[in-house]
Amino acid sequence: MDKILIVDDETFIRENLERILSEDGYQLYGAEGPIPALQISEQEEFDLVLLDLNLGTASGLDLLKKLQTIDPNILVIIITGYGTVETAVQALKMGAYDYIKKPFKADAIRLIVKLALERRSLQREIRRLRRRSETALLEQANMVGSSSELLQVVRQVEDVAQHETATVLITGESGTGKELVARAIHNLSPRGKQPFIEINCGSLPFSLLESELFGHEKGAFTDAHNRKIGLFEEANGGTVFLDEIGEMDMSLQVKLLRVLEDRKIRRLGGNRNIDIDVRVIAATNCDLSEAIKEKNFREDLFYRLNVFPIFVPPLRERRDDIPLLLDHFLSRYSREFNRPLREVSRDALGLLSRYHWPGNVRELRNMVERICIMHRDEVITPQMLPREVSGLEPRQQTDFSCTIPPEGLCLEAVVENLEKELIAQALTLTSANVAKTARLLNLARGTLRYKLEKYHLLDED
Ligand SMILES: Nc1ncnc2c1ncn2[C@@H]1O[C@H](COP(=O)(O)OP(=O)(O)OP(=O)(O)O)[C@@H](O)[C@H]1O
Ligand SMILES: [Mg+2]
Repeated sequence: MDKILIVDDETFIRENLERILSEDGYQLYGAEGPIPALQISEQEEFDLVLLDLNLGTASGLDLLKKLQTIDPNILVIIITGYGTVETAVQALKMGAYDYIKKPFKADAIRLIVKLALERRSLQREIRRLRRRSETALLEQANMVGSSSELLQVVRQVEDVAQHETATVLITGESGTGKELVARAIHNLSPRGKQPFIEINCGSLPFSLLESELFGHEKGAFTDAHNRKIGLFEEANGGTVFLDEIGEMDMSLQVKLLRVLEDRKIRRLGGNRNIDIDVRVIAATNCDLSEAIKEKNFREDLFYRLNVFPIFVPPLRERRDDIPLLLDHFLSRYSREFNRPLREVSRDALGLLSRYHWPGNVRELRNMVERICIMHRDEVITPQMLPREVSGLEPRQQTDFSCTIPPEGLCLEAVVENLEKELIAQALTLTSANVAKTARLLNLARGTLRYKLEKYHLLDED
C-alpha cells in the first residue's frame, strides 16, 4: 500500500485531502508543519508527499530541500494557494514532481496522485530491470565487477557492439581490461561468430607487421616464397584488434588510415585492391594526444580511430570492483591449484581495498594466483599479502590525528572516505541491517539511507 504524507498547516485542508485520498486505499499521514514533517520522514519512508507551500511563515521550499536530503528520490506534489505559483515553479526546478492549485477538485487530486505513483513504480521497475540486465551484460562480457564505472563501460560496449562497423578506440592503463572489452564488443556484435583477430602493434618490427596486416604476394620480397593472406583479409566479416596502436610505426599509420577510409587493402607486391569488411578496434595505454604533439602519432589517424572512444578507468578509481574480483580469481585459482582458500579476512580486504593497484586487474589477478600457489590456508590474511599492499597501515588512512602531507590534501575526499569506511564496517557488523546500523552510528535512519545511496553501499531491492 502506498504511503502518502500530507503536509499542510490548515487542519481543514489536511482532513479534506485525507478523506478524498482514503477512498483509493492509500496509507495516509498528516503533518501540520516542517518539524513534524521532518520527524515523521526520518521514521517512515513515503511514496509521495503532498506539500503546501504556504506553511505559515516557514518556507515550504526549505522543507522540500530537507525532505530531499532524507530521501533524494522523494516524490513531491506541491499544493499552492493563490499567488504562489511562482514559488511552485521554483519547487519544480528543485525536483518536485508537479503542483496543484487551491481550491482543487477531488477528482483532480486523485488523478494527479495516481499518475505520480504509477510513474514512480514504473521508474522503480525500470531501475530494477536495468540492474538485472547490467548483471547479465557483465556476465556476457565476461567482466567481473559492480562499480558504476564498470557498468558504464559495459553499457558502451553493448551500444557500440550493435554498430558493427564502427571503429572503436579503447584507452586505459595497463591491466585494466582493454582486451577483455575488445573481445566483448566483438562477441556481443552481430559479427560474434566471425573471426576476431588480434595483433600487438608493438611486438613486431615495421616490415613484419606490415606483411602480417596486409599479406603479400609470392616474390614480393626476398623471403616471400609463397603468397600470404594478411590479418585484414583473414578477419573479413569479423573484427581486427590492433593492440598497442600507439607503438605503430608512422609509415604504417598512413596505410592503416587508408584502409579505414577506403575499406580496401592491397597485398605487398600485389596490384589489385581487395575489399574488406572488418571492424577495427584499437587499444592503447599511452596518451595519444601526447604522442600526436611529439609527432609520433598521426592526428588524422587518431580522429579516424576515435569514432567511438571507450575509457576503462584504473582499478583504484572503481574500488567497488575489488571484492568481486578477489572472489572471482580466488575461486578460479584455488580450484586450479586445488587449494582450500575460500575467503579474504576483513583486515586483508581493508588493505586490498585501499591499495592503489598500479598494475590494475592484472596485478590483482597475479597476486591472488601467487597466494594460491604459496598457501594452504582457508583464509587470506594480511600476512600473506605482498609488502607493497600490507605495508600500508589502515590507520594511516583513517586516523583523525594523521598529519597533513606537505602537498596538502583534499579534506572532503578524506572525510568522505572515512565516512564510507565506517559505514561499511558498521554494515558488516550488523549484517547490513539498516536500523541497527543507524543506531550503531547514532544517525537518523533517513540520514543513513541517504549516505548508503550516496556511497552505493546497499542495493535497493
Ligand atoms: N573486469 C574484469 N573482470 C575479470 N577479469 C578482468 C577484468 N578486467 C581485467 N581482467 C583480467 O585482467 C587481465 C588483464 O586484462 P587485459 O589484458 O584485458 O588488460 P589490458 O588493459 O589489455 O592491459 P595491457 O594494456 O597491459 O594490454 C586479464 O587476465 C583479464 O582477463
Ligand atoms: Mg592488452
